[in-house]
Amino acid sequence: MMSRLAVNDMDIVWEPSAGAGHLIDAVLECAPRAEIHASELRSDAAAQLRLKYGNRANVAVHHEDALDVEMTHQPSLFTLNRPRPTRIIANPPYGAWQAPERRAVLKRRFPGLYVRETYSTILHHCLTCLSPEGRLVFLIPDTFLWLHRHEVLRRRLFGEFLVLEIIRFSSKFFPGVAFGYSGMCIITVSAQPPTPSSTTRIIDTITNVAALELLSRSEAGTRGVGRTVLQRSFLRGVDQECAPSGTGILCTVGDLAEVRTGFYSGNDRKWLRRANPEVKRSTGYADVIPEQIASREETPPIRGIAGSRHFIPIVRGGAASFLKRDEWYLDWSSSAVSEYTRPGKNPARFQNSAFYFRDGIGVPMVASSRLTASLLEGRLFDQGIVGIFPQNEAHSLYLLGLLNTHFATELLRRINGTANNSANYIKRIPVPIPTGDELEQIDALVLRAIREAREGSVADQTMGAIEDFYQLSYERIGHELLEKLLPKTMSNSSAGSSPRG
Ligand SMILES: C[S@@+](CC[C@H](N)C(=O)[O-])C[C@H]1O[C@@H](n2cnc3c(N)ncnc32)[C@H](O)[C@@H]1O
Repeated sequence: MMSRLAVNDMDIVWEPSAGAGHLIDAVLECAPRAEIHASELRSDAAAQLRLKYGNRANVAVHHEDALDVEMTHQPSLFTLNRPRPTRIIANPPYGAWQAPERRAVLKRRFPGLYVRETYSTILHHCLTCLSPEGRLVFLIPDTFLWLHRHEVLRRRLFGEFLVLEIIRFSSKFFPGVAFGYSGMCIITVSAQPPTPSSTTRIIDTITNVAALELLSRSEAGTRGVGRTVLQRSFLRGVDQECAPSGTGILCTVGDLAEVRTGFYSGNDRKWLRRANPEVKRSTGYADVIPEQIASREETPPIRGIAGSRHFIPIVRGGAASFLKRDEWYLDWSSSAVSEYTRPGKNPARFQNSAFYFRDGIGVPMVASSRLTASLLEGRLFDQGIVGIFPQNEAHSLYLLGLLNTHFATELLRRINGTANNSANYIKRIPVPIPTGDELEQIDALVLRAIREAREGSVADQTMGAIEDFYQLSYERIGHELLEKLLPKTMSNSSAGSSPRG
């Protein structure tokens, strides 16, 4: 980070989340006379910092919220404003909890910004404070690069500043930071407006800490590493949760969607009805009476239905690609729902109810040989199904297609060798972020598959084209990066091998 900060004794440096002062120490090593402002929210940490830097006239420790610090060009005795820093360096907190009142204040101050996330809010604020031509170096998670909720930050960052470099690496480099597959990055920004030809250097081939360190040693450590992309390509599809094509960015199913397990009645034989006797594994269940089936026109009330048409379709386990017929119905009368939600010892599990009756994707929890996924189409789903609810609707068909491929089955088996597709494993499947063009292409194929499934079964040709599409997307990411993100295999199966070969 210091090698990117390019600090000298003339600089005014701000560390907006100073912690124990490791970054300040590093700055002092390079520029012992630089003027340093340290902000720290916790009073005990701030007190420690004051002790630590008490004999340094050029280090000012402030016990304050960095987001409340205002900077100006012309500091005056009559304001609390400070001069703008020429350098800002930080590894701000991420995922820190904010009280609802504080969040409301921040929402008003930063319209459209995703203020629940602390790292991105601090980054956004620091960009505002940075002196013209100043430099900012942050160590942060890399989710701001693609998650829809960071759109406002991305527009500002890539639209108004020069983003010189993004070094991406696994969060595993930091023991104890449980980030699943999400990566971390060191981003270097200069406060200058970009031009149409400005480029960003992306380095995402770092496999270990030593390689990261080598990058810091000298220009030689950086030569030939990474690639440059046009900075404005980051703004393409900025509102679509799309990565610029060719940047090879990978995330996980859990990054793109909420992944949840479903409902359990507590006594299926009592509360469930089958559509007809042909339904597999339905011996011992009663048939549903058609006159008791609720209309699909309206979403069932979460507290249950008062009238006599109170049986609603529920999606249960069992392989099905793209579409799943209504085979099971659940008693959703008001009295049944009060039984499912009865407090005290209750075998029923009314879990994740905010996700009931939504459009999403259902993946059977236990699948014999391969992963299948089908549309939930606003139905309830039971605990034998993992419900996947994309945060951005634009990704629905993309994820549906992916979760029906052999390739996804292979990836999942690498994550977990057993045939259990639990929510936690599915969340971790790596997914290349699609570009707008790729989404258009796959949407057309998946829509075709859905139409064919509705008419009988998906044609081999359609399925082949879908498999090929994902195979290409993963190839673009690169076998090496993918391998790095997957747990070491127990068997010899290779996630990079051809899914159909
Ligand atoms: C990951 S640590 C930073 C470590 C630090 N860079 C160092 O070198 O030791 C994040 C620190 O930010 C502080 N913090 C969290 N929210 C803050 C805020 N809004 N303003 C200032 N400091 C904050 C936390 O108390 C914590 O000490």
